[in-house]
Amino acid sequence: MLENNLENAEMPDKLIVYGGSGKVARNWECYHKIVESLKEIEEDETLLVQSGKPVAIFKTRKESPIVLIANSNLVPKWSNWEKFYELEQLGLIMYGQMTAGSWCYIGTQGIIQGTYETFSACAKKHFNGTLAGKFVLTGGLGGMGGAQPLAIKMNGGVALVVECDESRIDRRIRAGYCDVKTDDVDEAIEIVKNAKEEKEGISVALLGNCADVHPELVKQGIKPDVVTDQTSAHDALNGYVPKGYYGENLQEAFDLRRENPKKYIELAMRSMAEHCKAMIDFKRNGSIVFDYGNNLRGQAYEAGLKDAFSYPGFVVEYIRPMFCEGRGPFRWISLTGNENDIIVTDEVVMKMFPENEILVNWIKKAEENLPWEGLPSRVCWLGYGERDKFALEINKLVREEVIGPIGISRDHLDAGSVASPNRETEKMKDGSDAIADWPLLNALLNCAAGADNVAIHNGGGVGIGLSTHAGMVVICDGSRETDERIKRVFKTDPGLGVVRHADAGYERAIEMAKKFGIKMPML
Ligand SMILES: NC(=O)c1ccc[n+]([C@@H]2O[C@H](COP(=O)([O-])OP(=O)(O)OC[C@H]3O[C@@H](n4cnc5c(N)ncnc54)[C@H](O)[C@@H]3O)[C@@H](O)[C@H]2O)c1
Repeated sequence: MLENNLENAEMPDKLIVYGGSGKVARNWECYHKIVESLKEIEEDETLLVQSGKPVAIFKTRKESPIVLIANSNLVPKWSNWEKFYELEQLGLIMYGQMTAGSWCYIGTQGIIQGTYETFSACAKKHFNGTLAGKFVLTGGLGGMGGAQPLAIKMNGGVALVVECDESRIDRRIRAGYCDVKTDDVDEAIEIVKNAKEEKEGISVALLGNCADVHPELVKQGIKPDVVTDQTSAHDALNGYVPKGYYGENLQEAFDLRRENPKKYIELAMRSMAEHCKAMIDFKRNGSIVFDYGNNLRGQAYEAGLKDAFSYPGFVVEYIRPMFCEGRGPFRWISLTGNENDIIVTDEVVMKMFPENEILVNWIKKAEENLPWEGLPSRVCWLGYGERDKFALEINKLVREEVIGPIGISRDHLDAGSVASPNRETEKMKDGSDAIADWPLLNALLNCAAGADNVAIHNGGGVGIGLSTHAGMVVICDGSRETDERIKRVFKTDPGLGVVRHADAGYERAIEMAKKFGIKMPML
């Protein structure tokens, strides 16, 4: 899974997987040492990885995790980008994003179902369940953002995605995630207008900079139906590109980043305020606008835009009801690289949950539309009570040699594994947005239950100091012993999501906890 992260990386030579600067290992020396350690490790030992560097191997137990990872964590008072960059310069820390540093990245497909679900929920809430004939404007075609055009099209909509780096556009077009590209705003709008009239699903990449294009579209009176954004705004230095830079002069921005980081950050912050202001203007003119988890609002606020939080985050708007059911992104990966193993498991999951129409539709659409990237894998959202059932079925198929070994993982963005006041825990019912005990308990609990890889990170999709989150992996080797670990981990992991939301007072989570007999002493 470590190698698969690199296989799918946006900048493999720099070990950068996605999310601006999310890395798989601290440097190449560390990477090779991790590989060597994993090859040599005994069954009853655990490898410790501190911000991308393998620091120790301890004797634990056979059922203990093979690897424990902690990335980018800083003591709260020092938990800011300034300190992080200082320590990064000294070679002491690395940015792990969410699934980059915890070796669970599966390419753009990893986020595509979440993106599809989010746009479906948006369509359901505002447009009678479909985006047909609707124009969605967004930014960013990177590792995660690259899922947007296809997810919008799969919902029937017309996507216009502004991206400043032509190589990223070409990569998405090559991979089948985006249909056409142009560097001409008028041409892009013309394509969008025609597709909207014809109710034809299409995705258009516009080579440009959101901080230039968005204010210009507002000025021209263009009214998208939906506006969001997935430029890497959470990182003002290594992610967001300041206005004026795109296409041929993009290298000048990268040079400035290296030569004068302070100036670069100043320009990026100012541009983010202009970008966010244009999104607020779109909202005022009638568009549905939501933040898509990149902290653009937080950065714009820092840059002086006092009404930056005028539009809501996507979790509050569309995802939280699913979190209350412990529902989140369940992913499985064929460790032998066999596409057919995924097709077999696709059939199984559709048979197991035929009443879940969204899931069945999703798997069919995924098979039709998604190219394989790196090791073949699939993702679908499953809730408490579903994840353990399906995981056991996968392990049984491995035992019966119908399929080869499978790794089961998830995004850190999940029901009980994140504290992030500008994203997953924005506006919690009881005001517990900033309490980071939950993801820490999640990681501890998954260790106790017997996961194979457990990770705790700071920063993720919103930036240093703004979130704490945890990840986990279980390797299905077909053994009976793994059955037992599956029964525990796939209850504890989503179960804590139900508990976290029940504890915050969400009715649906309380119902779920009662229905499934989750023991909560204070409920
Ligand atoms: N909502 C979610 O579920 C979720 C999940 C993961 C990541 N994220 C966040 O979404 C953002 C994007 O993630 P990613 O993995 O795609 O990052 P990435 O760094 O791989 O891609 C970001 C893209 O934005 C482009 N870009 C930067 N500034 C721009 C500008 N001003 N105008 C136009 N294009 C610009 C870059 O060229 C790049 O292609 C990050 O902030 C990440 O933390 C959200």
